[in-house]
Amino acid sequence: MSSSSAIIHRAEQVLFANYARYPLTITKGRDCRVYDPDGREWLDFTAGIAVTSLGHCHPKVTVAIQKQAQRLVHISNLFYTEPQVALAEALVAASFADRVFFCNSGAEANEAAIKLARKAMGPKRFEIITTTQSFHGRTLTTMAATGQDKVKQGFNPLPPGFVHVAYGDMDAMRQAVGPQTAAILVEPVQGEGGVNVPPPGYLADLRALCNREGILLMFDEIQTGIGRCGTLFAYEQDGVAPDVMTLAKGLGNGFPIGALLARAETAQALGPGTHGSTFGGGPLACAAALAVLETLRDDPWILENTNRMGQRITSGLEKLATTHTVIRQVRGQGLLIGCELTVEARPVAEACLEAGLLLATAGPHVVRFMPPLTVRDADVDQALDIFATVLGGIHEAARA
Ligand SMILES: Cc1ncc(COP(=O)(O)O)c(C=O)c1O
Repeated sequence: MSSSSAIIHRAEQVLFANYARYPLTITKGRDCRVYDPDGREWLDFTAGIAVTSLGHCHPKVTVAIQKQAQRLVHISNLFYTEPQVALAEALVAASFADRVFFCNSGAEANEAAIKLARKAMGPKRFEIITTTQSFHGRTLTTMAATGQDKVKQGFNPLPPGFVHVAYGDMDAMRQAVGPQTAAILVEPVQGEGGVNVPPPGYLADLRALCNREGILLMFDEIQTGIGRCGTLFAYEQDGVAPDVMTLAKGLGNGFPIGALLARAETAQALGPGTHGSTFGGGPLACAAALAVLETLRDDPWILENTNRMGQRITSGLEKLATTHTVIRQVRGQGLLIGCELTVEARPVAEACLEAGLLLATAGPHVVRFMPPLTVRDADVDQALDIFATVLGGIHEAARA
């Protein structure tokens, strides 16, 4: 097998340079550990950006994929398949929703949600209100929905019909709603935008506003859903339900799949011929996702562990903050945790990688801890030790 650096060199000759990748090639993974071609081990607290939530190569998901691959890989949506129906039944049983549409990624799920909102609310109500610092995807329309200018640069003109208001600000939201508003689209906790947790009651206030105005409340749970925040869906913690929800990331534990969920009266707006996907809801993806949902349903330890380990990381980081002034704030929910620094996050993540810990960033100053939901005490303690050592180095360098 080629070395990590040889593969990186080959990649530079043939791949688009659109990702700011870390200089590391991964060949295999197990639980929360991954390995390079030389067999060196890393503790993976990125989980493929909140995707491999049951850990790398979870045996139940692997077996489900293997079994389905021997039976039927693809047939298209010209026909019915049982894995697709069974997965939709499981999602409906576990959520507020009555109907599910399957696609292949988060951006596709949000794209479908935006189409649904426009079709369901009619031509006069076309506008969707989203929030600043939100992230909803990289297609032209989901980029327009995203509340971060940096992702949009160079891609104008973007599709119109989106308004952005400050996340967590109900007054701004109330003022933004008008006769042209179709829906409000928010992440229950913002992930890419810096792991931002809204003020208590925000989701309930949004629900009340949408009820009063007769508009749709849409939750983008692409990052927060499937247990990441300590409940199957993050909205459960606020005791409110949306009208529309999007999922992806953790749903397939790494097998690409996205989903749009809605109540029946809303879903009926997308009739035959209005939307579709050749690959969406393929039997292989659905078999993988069904194994994920069944694992989470049958093993309550996983969500309990998510909350326990989330607290262990948060209190560990808060303790570190008392001695390391480079930590500005620790915030998050479940195992979606952001550590805001007074320095740039990327070099800190790079130094952690050198020391054996993989971390992602969320914006320029936030380091994100999002290990698999099955992470153990010893893994968390090891990660915190590495992080403390790296931050200690920054402290020393600043003093010198
Ligand atoms: C909240 C949210 N929405 C949408 C997306 C886009 O998902 P994808 O990269 O699968 O298109 C992401 C990805 O990070 C996300 O975090």
